[in-house]
Amino acid sequence: MSSYMPWNTEHAESLIAAEQRQAQAFYGDDGHGATAMLPILHALQGAFGYVPPDAVPLIADRLNISKAEVRGVISFYHDFRDAPPGRHVIKLCRAEACQANGSERTAAHLADAHGLHPGATVNSVTLQNVYCLGNCALGPAALVDDVLMAGVDVSAADALITRLQEQP
Ligand code: FES
Repeated sequence: MSSYMPWNTEHAESLIAAEQRQAQAFYGDDGHGATAMLPILHALQGAFGYVPPDAVPLIADRLNISKAEVRGVISFYHDFRDAPPGRHVIKLCRAEACQANGSERTAAHLADAHGLHPGATVNSVTLQNVYCLGNCALGPAALVDDVLMAGVDVSAADALITRLQEQP
């Protein structure tokens, strides 16, 4: 379980500026625009748990790009959230090796039995898709609150949901 700070415009602006400065130091002239976007998005999500919609115009202004471009990047990468996560986050691997080991069955069961579709939060548990966690031989693999798990089949998923929902 992670704890994040509430949205704070000043803090967001300082994170954005710091990441842009780093990108400029590293990439020179190429670091002025969109090159800095991914580090900025990671920094914001690390601080707030998601990339708040209020951050989009701040990023666009700072990088001199459109808000649509910023939103496009946020929605393109599965790791970025545009809404606050629950107290617990399950990142279920949906890549090929885990599919061969049953991750699609697990995903369908999480949706049918628990209402947990990718991107949804139910009873303080958020589900996200990821694509390979480097645990391919032991799939279905998942990162649960940043702890790697193996063999997340239907029964393991049920036990996991019960455990997480009982945790504060
Ligand atoms: S494919 Fe799932 S961990 Fe590699």
